[in-house]
Amino acid sequence: MRINVELKEGIHWVGAIDWNIRDFHGYSTNKGTTYNAYLVMDDKVTLFDTVKKPFKQDLVHCIYKVVDPSKIDYLVVNHVEPDHSGSVAEMMEIIKPEKLICSPRAKKALLQHYHREDWPYHVVESGQDISLGKRTVQFIETRMLHWPDSMFSYLKEDAILISSDAFGQHWATSERFNDQVDSHELMYHATKYYANILLPYSPLVLKLIADVQKLGLKIDMIAPDHGLIWRDNPMQIVSAYAQWAQQVPKQKAVIIYDSMWRSTEMMAKAVADGLAEHGVCTKIMDLAGTHRSDAITELLDARAIILGSSTLNNGMLPRMADMLCYMKGLRPSNKIGAAFGSYGWSGESVRLMTKALEEMKVKVVHQGVSIQYVPEHQGLKQCVELGRELAVAIKNPA
Ligand code: FEO
Repeated sequence: MRINVELKEGIHWVGAIDWNIRDFHGYSTNKGTTYNAYLVMDDKVTLFDTVKKPFKQDLVHCIYKVVDPSKIDYLVVNHVEPDHSGSVAEMMEIIKPEKLICSPRAKKALLQHYHREDWPYHVVESGQDISLGKRTVQFIETRMLHWPDSMFSYLKEDAILISSDAFGQHWATSERFNDQVDSHELMYHATKYYANILLPYSPLVLKLIADVQKLGLKIDMIAPDHGLIWRDNPMQIVSAYAQWAQQVPKQKAVIIYDSMWRSTEMMAKAVADGLAEHGVCTKIMDLAGTHRSDAITELLDARAIILGSSTLNNGMLPRMADMLCYMKGLRPSNKIGAAFGSYGWSGESVRLMTKALEEMKVKVVHQGVSIQYVPEHQGLKQCVELGRELAVAIKNPA
């Protein structure tokens, strides 16, 4: 689908819709994504960002609906990750722009990606304005949100914030604006996106929100590089980011487990029973059927992470190792936790999972439960007690 949508007069969405992508470097994109680019028609015709390389023709086709691409004067690269800059080299040949506008770090990253010293780089500092004619663009560096090169472009007269990856969602739709889609599903995708991409940068998110508030920008629309454009009440997504970034947990526990012969699964259910006795909202997620990125989404607002794995070859099950590797990189904070699992003869998994929790600065509030082979009633009672103790700790934060 290649459509042309106007955000405001003379400002066009010219991106691409990727209906079929299902894995975004480890994040499950079950409903696809979009690569948004924006074209501004002014004295200086300006293209903000490009698209992932295989979608270059979609971008060119969209631009042609508005203007011959060779008429573009400025190409702004807000972010160098290849889902946005992947078409830059080919677009540079087509457009031959007067300026390629980017942050200082983006220039360095573009050189390291595309090795072209001859491009007409025009480096902008944070806070700098550039006139397009009737419009002014203000550039705001957003280092490490989520790459060192990341930058916002703010269209002052139209009060549109082109926000690069921030405030995006991986969701392929024919609609382009938030008021055209189901708001609950939109917020689910925005939550998953935050949890899996921006979570480790939460302190920087809070600082950026404070800095942008200080600038006093009027914002009519937030136009991210993925998913829907926030046209109706755009500040709702800024408020949501402020809340997620603070990582204030709810009275909620997530039990993530993998089980070899269902003994660990029996233990997971017993732990959940102990939590339920105290009315704690509990999610049980079996890694055999749950993607790591969905587990992280549930963890975003949870107080407790409770991990279960059988022991395999003196270690934990591979899906749990994968989960912990992924979780460690995302650095969730303000969590408590514990571990449990069954074993045959050596039983290392609980110790290893507990150690991993401690390394992630999760406060371990129970020594864990290990049960040899198949749990009977007494063993399951220990798991119920683990759930009860976690529930008490959730309800009585230190
Ligand atoms: Fe959507 Fe960081 O690229």
